[in-house]
Amino acid sequence: MTSAAAGKARLGRDARTGSRTRSAHPPHTPGSTPGTDLGPDLRAEIDEAVAVLSAAGVASPRSDAEQLAAHATGEPRWRLALTGTMAPADRDWFHDLVARRAARVPLQHLVGTVGFRYLTLAVGHGVFVPRPETEMVVGWAIDTARAAGWDRPICVDLCTGSGAIALALADELPGARVHAVDSDPDALMWARRNVVLTGRVVTVHHADVGIDLSAWGSSARARPDVPGERIVADPAAGPDPAGPGAGPVPAVADELTDLLGRVDLLVSNPPYLCDDERDRIEPEVGEHDPPAALWAGPDGLAGVRAVAQAAVDLLRDGGRLVIEHSDRHGSAAPALLRAHGYWDDVRGHQDLTGRDRFVTATRRVRGTPSPGVVGEER
Ligand SMILES: C[S@@+](CC[C@H](N)C(=O)[O-])C[C@H]1O[C@@H](n2cnc3c(N)ncnc32)[C@H](O)[C@@H]1O
Repeated sequence: MTSAAAGKARLGRDARTGSRTRSAHPPHTPGSTPGTDLGPDLRAEIDEAVAVLSAAGVASPRSDAEQLAAHATGEPRWRLALTGTMAPADRDWFHDLVARRAARVPLQHLVGTVGFRYLTLAVGHGVFVPRPETEMVVGWAIDTARAAGWDRPICVDLCTGSGAIALALADELPGARVHAVDSDPDALMWARRNVVLTGRVVTVHHADVGIDLSAWGSSARARPDVPGERIVADPAAGPDPAGPGAGPVPAVADELTDLLGRVDLLVSNPPYLCDDERDRIEPEVGEHDPPAALWAGPDGLAGVRAVAQAAVDLLRDGGRLVIEHSDRHGSAAPALLRAHGYWDDVRGHQDLTGRDRFVTATRRVRGTPSPGVVGEER
């Protein structure tokens, strides 16, 4: 799995906030063996970078220094040990990369890619960097579809960002008809770029899942101004229908009218940070992940609520729902679905570090009475 390095690099930190946490795993330098011989010049450069990154508070300085050195030299990381020196131009670039990483630009933005399950995805300014724990959420969805023996399942990824979930479903479920939805034109540009890069078949939609933050003011949506970084459209992705002048964003039920009541599998990793987490997130997250990808109101559940509501209409009877949530929502997210009244078999799941991470449920057969139904059953 290509994201192993990125995933291990984040161990010891909360995945979404980046803040230091107690981890079930000790810190580890991905792909490296302590004491590996890097050769005099390169070793000195990397050691110096480790010191710079450590002083800047970077969580995994050696791992990051080695990945940046590999990026600057064009060598695979495992070959660094065999490479004695750096060419002057590579060294200049390496110094620049290390300085930007020390300024807490995310490693994935600097190298321009992230591994997600079996795919390598392009990421950068304007899109949420996919996290390793989401791979497990997708893994549950894929295992479930395979176990059910679904032939050409219709799958929907709400809040798709880079397209990570949708593309993994398309990659690992042959014949699946996969739709990806996001309201942010910048995110959609990255998702379309990744469709082209991976060659997987996903239909990308510009639509609003209906995450309602209006009661909490516009600050929840404010995008920080990041000097020196800008979105560059990929001509290979074709004209962007979500670009300037594209008009109001349609509601997801209007955009996906043809899919209402037909979807087999709906997977989502919506925004789920609580407002009170603003002062404990790391710069890589707070200054570089788009605000719309992070914040979900005072209780952090606005995204889960909106996705669950959209899923009621989209899923067919017996269709499966998977929603990633904060580790603070291990009770609240399943309780929300149970109170909803449209779901059977509601279950909470933990990630590999033992944190509550996602909730799954099955769309109740329409017309089945439920004591907990809120509103009219469709
Ligand atoms: C946490 S990111 C997840 C991205 C991707 N699924 C992943 O796991 O890497 C949440 C995504 O939700 C999108 N989003 C936020 N509000 C939305 C809304 N009202 N409708 C649709 N998408 C929305 C953001 O643009 C962002 O791309």
